[in-house]
Amino acid sequence: ISTVAAASLLLAACGGDDTDGDGGGGEAGGKSMRLALNQTEEHPSYIALDNMGTALEEATDGRWSIDVYPNETLGAQAEAMQLVADGSVEMAIVSGPQLENLNPDFVVFNLPKVFDDVEHQMSVIHDEEITGDLYSSLEESNNITVLGGFTQGARSVYTTFGPVETPADLAGMKLRVQESDLHIAMAEALGASATPMAYGELYTGLQSGVVDAAENNEVSFATQRHYEVAPYWSQTNHLVGLDYLIINTDVLAEMSDEDRAAFDEVWTAAYQEHTELWTTATEEAIAQAQAGGATFTEVDSAAFDAVLAPLAAEFITTETQQALFDAARNAAR
Ligand code: GCU
Repeated sequence: ISTVAAASLLLAACGGDDTDGDGGGGEAGGKSMRLALNQTEEHPSYIALDNMGTALEEATDGRWSIDVYPNETLGAQAEAMQLVADGSVEMAIVSGPQLENLNPDFVVFNLPKVFDDVEHQMSVIHDEEITGDLYSSLEESNNITVLGGFTQGARSVYTTFGPVETPADLAGMKLRVQESDLHIAMAEALGASATPMAYGELYTGLQSGVVDAAENNEVSFATQRHYEVAPYWSQTNHLVGLDYLIINTDVLAEMSDEDRAAFDEVWTAAYQEHTELWTTATEEAIAQAQAGGATFTEVDSAAFDAVLAPLAAEFITTETQQALFDAARNAAR
């Protein structure tokens, strides 16, 4: 609640449209959209979205622009999603597990093993023949339109206590997960004690011992400096994570056809740029974490696969979900 209150104050202070050309928005009369992000300014998502804002402003002659607010300034993802729904923030990046809480069909793309790699994932999530009605499914219920996404790359486990080689090494350990039923079940399948927690609280959570372990990609491990407090990285690669770009549906409807086409174009360029940046960012993140004392170890992948495989059958419970899963798998090379 306090985060939402703080965000509301900040929003009131920022106002809606920036008409004074101070870099906070578009030309006089233009509409500036606030975009909530939980990453730092070094993260590829910030870089690609910031560039997208500049490109949008140019392409629409200042009629539309984007101000990216990094570091959870507008709230953690669960709050940001609510703020987009009620229109007090126009756009946000939210992780797949957050959308699973609004429509369980999103669970399909959150499963371990649904995507083989980043390339497969990006080809699936931007193929309308596969995604069908999924991205418009929240429009009536929540006033949220999903535009597509950025990869989170492969996620792995890291701990405060030492390397993990098999799930048995996580037995009884408190593993931070994103706030979703699937991710709680995933931690439990690994034998850990699931602790759902917002991303921005995790550094302190690891430092204070509220949790013993977490799972994420190397870029987050480095940009959030989690390696300082949980330096044992174990290369589980248990799933390829996905972030979505969401926008308030009414705001999207305000765009003229011409501006909407420009918007779609700059967004396509943004996710392509993000995918290109990702590989280098991952390499740099590993180097940064190693320089900071982190160790990277291999795991018994078969042991992880064995305990995680049953999750698909447990969470795919409808024909729609099964069809989405099959279409995603059929697109694998
Ligand atoms: C990644 C992802 C975020 C997500 C975070 C998390 O960093 O890009 O969107 O919030 O993982 O684990 O919470």
